[in-house]
Amino acid sequence: MPTILCKNDITMKIITSITVLSLIGFVLGAPTSNDEDDEKFLITKSMFPKEFIKYKAEHEIVNLLLPINSLNFDENESSESSSEESESELLLFFVEADVDSNGDRVDQGLYVLKEDKATKLLDHGRDAAASGDDSKLVFFGAKDGIYVYNKDNNSADKYGTVDDSIIAIAKEKTGDVIYILTENHEVFNVSNGGTTKEKLDDVVNAKEIVVDYSNNLYFYSDDKQAYVRSADGIKKIEGLPENPSSVKLIKPPFILEDGVPFIVDNVAYIIYANGTSEHSGIEFKPKAKPSAYAPEAAMIQYYAYDKNIYEYNVLTIILGTILDELKNYLNKNSEDIQSLSTKSRKYRQRA
Ligand SMILES: *[C@@H]1O[C@H](CO)[C@@H](O)[C@H](O)[C@H]1NC(C)=O
Ligand SMILES: *[C@@H]1O[C@H](CO)[C@@H](O)[C@H](O)[C@H]1NC(C)=O
Ligand SMILES: *[C@@H]1O[C@H](CO)[C@@H](O)[C@H](O)[C@H]1NC(C)=O
Ligand SMILES: *[C@@H]1O[C@H](CO)[C@@H](O)[C@H](O)[C@H]1NC(C)=O
Repeated sequence: MPTILCKNDITMKIITSITVLSLIGFVLGAPTSNDEDDEKFLITKSMFPKEFIKYKAEHEIVNLLLPINSLNFDENESSESSSEESESELLLFFVEADVDSNGDRVDQGLYVLKEDKATKLLDHGRDAAASGDDSKLVFFGAKDGIYVYNKDNNSADKYGTVDDSIIAIAKEKTGDVIYILTENHEVFNVSNGGTTKEKLDDVVNAKEIVVDYSNNLYFYSDDKQAYVRSADGIKKIEGLPENPSSVKLIKPPFILEDGVPFIVDNVAYIIYANGTSEHSGIEFKPKAKPSAYAPEAAMIQYYAYDKNIYEYNVLTIILGTILDELKNYLNKNSEDIQSLSTKSRKYRQRA
């Protein structure tokens, strides 16, 4: 860490968040301004320098979660530690899996990365979801139901009575409503401490689900077109390519209130609850696509690529010499970064 990072200096914290915002705010979050001459940013293999590796896994990493609730960002606790310390204290959850010769997924476990040490919590954990409020709740979807993170024991406890084989899980920002996607592609909401389960009949044959910070649920089906389920019912997202060969829904960075990133082949779009979509300005070289994404926190962001987890702290990037390309891009977008910093400050006050 550069010495310029003063301990407990709120200004530096804001700069840190600005920098991170710019990184994936731009990599996968907020679209850049509408100027015609806005530059597109191409993600290449060089964006994954070995210096940024946080963790080396044995298998492909298929899911990453950085909770942005009080588990990681507790204002009451952060004043006791330096920014440097609090970064290494961030808890990151990830899921490893292999694909066997039939193309089927083989579970390799759900882990928590705590103080640079990975602990397997569940052999058959498939996905993780956290609240976005000042609770410390993190839930896991597994082969045999829902689990909740026990931070005192660094373990996973069975939650509620659901026993479905779950492949994806999502959490509303506050409250206790959880959404699960089962292995046979049905979506349920779960409430009352995990004891009430109701099928969402209007969400048919979903392959992935993600919930935004306004509690809208996004999914896609066999047609690889994105849909949103909001208070107005189900809407198809307009303006996306028609026959993509691969798509992926991403848990949103907090700066997106009513939208989520959606990767369509090699392009990152932002899709919104009102059914519109926008090119984010980010494109991937085919061989430089992450296998999992964690842009949730503005402070710091994580991406999995080729069995490794990479940590992007834009302060490090701007002050360093490793990713000059990205540094230049960030500087060119300083106006957007300014406006995002205001949101970041508001968020941090609220958190
Ligand atoms: C932080 O401290 C205040 C005052 O002690 C308390 O009311 C609040 O609940 C605390 N917040 C969290 C997230 O623990
Ligand atoms: C930690 O785990 C042990 C054994 O699994 C259990 O008895 C204990 O209640 C747990 N502690 C907490 C604080 O949940
Ligand atoms: C769960 O979904 C059902 C069916 O759509 C709905 O009637 C109910 O209000 C939902 N419950 C919660 C807690 O969101
Ligand atoms: C849809 O929502 C986005 C994000 O809130 C907003 O920027 C856009 O103007 C909206 N579009 C329409 C047509 O309402």
